[in-house]
Amino acid sequence: VKILLITASTRPVRVGDQITEVVARVLGAHGAQTEVVDLRTLGLPFLDEPLMPAMGQYAHEHTRRWSQTVADADAVVIVTPQYNAGYPAALKNAVDFLFAEWRDKPGAIVSYGGHGGGQSYDQLHQVLSFIGMRMDPTGVQVVLPRDSYGQDWRLVDAEEVMTPYLDELDGLAARLVASVGRDPEAEGAEPASPGLPPQAQDVVDRFLAALDARDADALGALFTDDGTLLDAAGDRMRGREEITARFDDAALPGADVRAGLDETGRESRLLSSTVAHVEVAWTLTGDPAAPRGRGVTTVQVVRDPNARAWRIAACAHQGWGLGSAEPVVAGALAV
Ligand SMILES: Cc1cc2nc3c(=O)[nH]c(=O)nc-3n(C[C@H](O)[C@H](O)[C@H](O)COP(=O)(O)O)c2cc1C
Repeated sequence: VKILLITASTRPVRVGDQITEVVARVLGAHGAQTEVVDLRTLGLPFLDEPLMPAMGQYAHEHTRRWSQTVADADAVVIVTPQYNAGYPAALKNAVDFLFAEWRDKPGAIVSYGGHGGGQSYDQLHQVLSFIGMRMDPTGVQVVLPRDSYGQDWRLVDAEEVMTPYLDELDGLAARLVASVGRDPEAEGAEPASPGLPPQAQDVVDRFLAALDARDADALGALFTDDGTLLDAAGDRMRGREEITARFDDAALPGADVRAGLDETGRESRLLSSTVAHVEVAWTLTGDPAAPRGRGVTTVQVVRDPNARAWRIAACAHQGWGLGSAEPVVAGALAV
């Protein structure tokens, strides 16, 4: 598997090459052969082709070379910084030079920035998806804390900076290598839905644990500022503060029930790079005298566009009685 690795920063003093090296190492460990293209040395001028790139008739030798480089790759990984909430102009220029070469090619983005690379990732993802690349659904967004830079404004230890992201990078590399040569349409199947990114999964786990422990502070803190919690009686709490304050009064599964709850199924889906949906099915169990019932808790998790942080945007509990028309006020979610 031949992967083109693009370093998008062209600054004379930069860290993009250091991050590219770590990404190359991880891709190599997954059996990929990587070719690094550095936009600083690629030396493309501002787009100077007379015809639209989608026509594929290139007038200039530099365009034909660039076209061949991209066409030869089985997949592309772009390592891009975040500048003013977007990605660098040189990268957009290099993308716009070509068209068909990008189409249907598996692609992935590793973005980074002082506050994280979320916005740069989102914008580039939108552009490459428009062109028709088969984009990795999550990519990796790296936060570069100020103290990771030395006095020369290079990363003191790029491997150390990237250590918290190695699991995500591993996952990305595995998905990319696996996607090469696969044509989801020809296979007549949707591409396999990836699991949640680790940060999103962590929020879901902490959320379910906080529900189980009935810990209002821990639970409220996981919501966005305008998140909503719909309890089993249909009462809606809006916003982190209100959720924290009113959680104790909420009609949540199990409050009045001596029985416990058993999780009977769970489905987690990443709907886009910034939105995930989780459904947890449960039944009331345990005390035979307690009402029996079943229900579903749904949770929507969203990623803060400028950071790696995931938060709960909405949660709703629905319960149904078994053999009874009455809705069950269900209990602590024991998962
Ligand atoms: C023009 C410019 C704008 C920047 N804007 C942002 C930004 O909006 N968000 C962010 O997290 N970091 C921002 N930064 C910090 C960069 O992400 C950080 O300097 C990083 O090292 C840049 O990558 P490079 O060194 O490979 O060029 C900016 C840096 C530059 C040079």
